[in-house]
Amino acid sequence: MKNVTASEMNQQMAYSEQVKHLVTAGDKTPKALVITYGCQQNENDSERIRGMLKQMGYDFTEEKEEADLILYNTCAVREGAEQRVLGNVGALVHEKRRRPNLLIGICGCMMQQEHMAKTIKQKYKHVSFVFGTHTLHKFPQILWTALNEEKTVISVEDSEGVIAEDVPVYREGSPKAWVSVMYGCNNFCTYCIVPYVRGRERSRQPENVLAEVRELVQKGVTEITLLGQNVNAYGKDLPEDIDFADLLSQINQVEGLKRIRFMTSHPKDMSQKLIDTMAACHKVMPQLHLPFQAGSDRILKEMNRRYTQTQYLDLVARVKKAMPGISMTTDIIVGFPNETKEDFEETIKVLEAVRFDSVFSFIYSKRQGTPAAIMEDSISNEEKHANFDRLLEVQNRISREINDSCFGKTFELLVEGESKTDENMLTGRTPEGKIVNFPKEDGISVGDYIHVTVTKTNTWSLLGEICRD
Ligand code: SAH
Ligand code: SF4
Ligand code: F3S
Repeated sequence: MKNVTASEMNQQMAYSEQVKHLVTAGDKTPKALVITYGCQQNENDSERIRGMLKQMGYDFTEEKEEADLILYNTCAVREGAEQRVLGNVGALVHEKRRRPNLLIGICGCMMQQEHMAKTIKQKYKHVSFVFGTHTLHKFPQILWTALNEEKTVISVEDSEGVIAEDVPVYREGSPKAWVSVMYGCNNFCTYCIVPYVRGRERSRQPENVLAEVRELVQKGVTEITLLGQNVNAYGKDLPEDIDFADLLSQINQVEGLKRIRFMTSHPKDMSQKLIDTMAACHKVMPQLHLPFQAGSDRILKEMNRRYTQTQYLDLVARVKKAMPGISMTTDIIVGFPNETKEDFEETIKVLEAVRFDSVFSFIYSKRQGTPAAIMEDSISNEEKHANFDRLLEVQNRISREINDSCFGKTFELLVEGESKTDENMLTGRTPEGKIVNFPKEDGISVGDYIHVTVTKTNTWSLLGEICRD
């Protein structure tokens, strides 16, 4: 049974009521701070955590000193992210001493690993509760237990994963929203921890996805990003005959919705049907995130990616043919065990051939329990870092050249908010996903669609002025 039953959800609802009764008994509304690491899937989970917190009577704060509950939603994909969480949680020991009633929780992918939950229990005694990815919907019960018990509550279940449909979601009022279409991953790339902490691939029923999209549109959302570790495997596990392309076509028909994006696609599952559907659906934006990870066929094989460089480049050629001008982005790992200079040059070759708009690059990080963790590695850290710097140099030039080619062109923007660096500017994204900042003007507000002409270009963003014709 993949779907959490109605009776289990009712039970959680009852816990939710009990928590609410307890924490709102005083005259002050309790405040929660949820800190999220990792990918959009985790951000989306945090929205569900906030939904449950709201239901349990909590308000939100950004200040640790003000919070009655601090919850870290963690990522396990690289060691750096884990170290940061441990450092931050460790530093909270003083705050807990000062305010013994403060609740500190840790959840998410990092906690789904047995050794991590153990470490927290043994060494971080000021943590009140821990839960993994498969027990997210049981948060009311976990919190209730933590409120009533002294020792650390641990809720980590070994599971293939479930789907909990009726968890409330709390989203910041924005014209954009994320909608998960599937959870988990079956690909087992040899470097990656995700399949171990997120369970097997499981797709939401199309009618549930569509209902959520329609509801969001009714609330004023006009752009949605469909989420999944591998969205184009959507439907493989469903009884009905539906794939991701079919789902896209259905969502494309939702009235009032203007923009559809999705991530992440695995090259091995990117069918010609999906390419043709993207091209045919006018709401699907001209943007594709298609991680290739490495250029060398030998390394791709060691990574268990199940495509070659030639197949990847052929796929990109077909995507560009169907959608000229499409913006492409990718993920790359530098320094996989025994990636030689010659192997790495193949990665640079792909960068030069595809000319991605932007690239998310990572130095390989050993993950306990994955096959790559026990592979021998003769490459020095200096060499890995030198390769990484070279990659950034090449890509920065390409990103800059692509952005420079936008000069003088006019784009439709969805206005998303104030610019992060200048309060006199607003910011928005083009259909291709490029950020454009432009001066504030009366009558233009968040959620509007406007046209902007690019007047200045940078490597990471563009500057524009509103176009009136
Ligand atoms: N499902 C997505 C995203 C997975 S995690 C996909 O398949 O692309 C996001 C990125 O983190 C991956 O694409 C990969 O580039 C990177 N990553 C995963 N495991 C890693 C590791 N052990 N070390 C360094 N980077 C890693
Ligand atoms: Fe990790 Fe590979 Fe699955 Fe992506 S497709 S989540 S990189 S195992
Ligand atoms: Fe990290 Fe978990 Fe996402 S490991 S990348 S938060 S699925």
